[in-house]
Amino acid sequence: MPEKTIFELSSPGRKAWSLPELDVPAVDAGEYSRKDNTLPELSEVDVARHFNRLSVMNHHVDRGFYPLGSCTMKYNPKVNELTCRLAGFTGLHPLQPEDLTQGALQLMYELQEFLAEITGFDAVSLQPAAGAHGELAGIMMVRKYFEKRGEQRDIVLVPDSAHGTNPASVTLSGFKPVQIKSNEHGQVDPAELARECSAAGCVACLVVTNPNTLGIFETEAKAICDVMHQQGALVYLDGANLNACVGVHRPADAGFDVMHINLHKTFSTPHGGGGPGSGPVAVTRQLEPFLPVPVVRKRQRDGETKRPSATPLDPSIPRSLDPSFFLDFNRPDSIGRVAGFHGQFGVLVRAYTYIRMLGAEGLRDAAENAVLNANYVRTGLEGVYDLPYKGRTMHEVVFSGSNLRQYDLKTLDVAKRLLDFGLHAPTIYFPLIVPEALMIEPTETESLESLDQFVEAMKRIAREAATEPDLLRNAPLSTPVRRLDEARASRELDVADLNHSVPVVGKKQRDGETKRPSATPLDPSFS
Ligand SMILES: Cc1ncc(COP(=O)(O)O)c(C=O)c1O
Repeated sequence: MPEKTIFELSSPGRKAWSLPELDVPAVDAGEYSRKDNTLPELSEVDVARHFNRLSVMNHHVDRGFYPLGSCTMKYNPKVNELTCRLAGFTGLHPLQPEDLTQGALQLMYELQEFLAEITGFDAVSLQPAAGAHGELAGIMMVRKYFEKRGEQRDIVLVPDSAHGTNPASVTLSGFKPVQIKSNEHGQVDPAELARECSAAGCVACLVVTNPNTLGIFETEAKAICDVMHQQGALVYLDGANLNACVGVHRPADAGFDVMHINLHKTFSTPHGGGGPGSGPVAVTRQLEPFLPVPVVRKRQRDGETKRPSATPLDPSIPRSLDPSFFLDFNRPDSIGRVAGFHGQFGVLVRAYTYIRMLGAEGLRDAAENAVLNANYVRTGLEGVYDLPYKGRTMHEVVFSGSNLRQYDLKTLDVAKRLLDFGLHAPTIYFPLIVPEALMIEPTETESLESLDQFVEAMKRIAREAATEPDLLRNAPLSTPVRRLDEARASRELDVADLNHSVPVVGKKQRDGETKRPSATPLDPSFS
């Protein structure tokens, strides 16, 4: 039965509060009271149950496994929510003077320092509000760098394994993207890159995602950077997949010049839910002058070195407020502002909390477990689904559902059927270089049991494809709404009306009747 709206649940006179008897004369608000503000009347229990029911109608990361590849839907520890909701933070106004916002500025400054230490870069800006926004800011810095040097370069190379936002950001920054092909291992080949670079001429930069969208680490990263530098070009790293590398590999050591980080993938806030994100950019010293304004800085006292002497992840750093943090707008070569105020502050607080709670060792463990979990799933499903690129998997693995074509099924059918097992689907049809792609990113937060449950569900779906393909075609069978016309659903938000927009395919019964396949979806013994 569809959930009624809170207004439909209303019952006159019901209320969720009680106040003591008036001890002052009652006043008739009369003409001053609004007549059109009909509010629902419900008891507290009605309200709590209504919103609880609503909260489990959609799949979410607090409800179950969410292996959405390229999105790092990791569990977000609740302590992050506590800190980002602290009244001292939520009550701040971005235009408040610096001496009243020292705590927030200190947090931002230290987060910049943590990210610099984790990535190996010299300077960081927290301004960009998403990964793609970080790409735009980073590539605009590359543009400014060449402008300043008086060099006319208008081409940016982008491998075919790049994230879709990469060529878009290149175009928006005024460059022309030129695609280069990955080799048979799904990697950029340095020799081929050198040829492409000379052939393209006037190349400003290569934008490379590492680990790339196949979940494969570019083992030739250093050689790739050398090739580009020999041509006088720079290398931009799309570091949105840093989850696989934190504490293990520092991108700046490989020679990258500029990168962005998706705080909302790597440092806890789940990506993919459509909520706020944050895409800080990190740069080498030569690009630092071009960082967006403002940059949070710390006034140096006599005799103090620029970076804090203790490593930032060292818990012995004093937490006392220091009135020396300030917003530096005096940066004549900056690309300017890229955000209204100071970035997505709530996401910054979550990332800061996550980093401090885990510490250096915990962060490394998270990266290692993310890789371990992806490889566990890969081993469990190899031979069940096609694996077109066999290189070692980092934090995610990309299978192909093309072997389902023999049953007239597609990857979409697998994704829909997974919902019947209480599991979110992997990313599908991306990356584009894998036909019928199934891109699985389990993340480090999943237990062995939930990984096993997912692998078993995927195996069972592969068996069903061969024996009961209609079950997949009709899936999902157990969700509040069935298979929707997704393009319409994203525009017409009342999905109840769209529920029957995709015809349900029935399986012919022996007596000639058409019957919906019977689902035993959430059966725990489904193997
Ligand atoms: C590799 C990669 N680059 C860039 C992005 C873009 O990030 P955002 O969605 O925050 O703009 C993503 C997002 O998932 C990504 O996976």
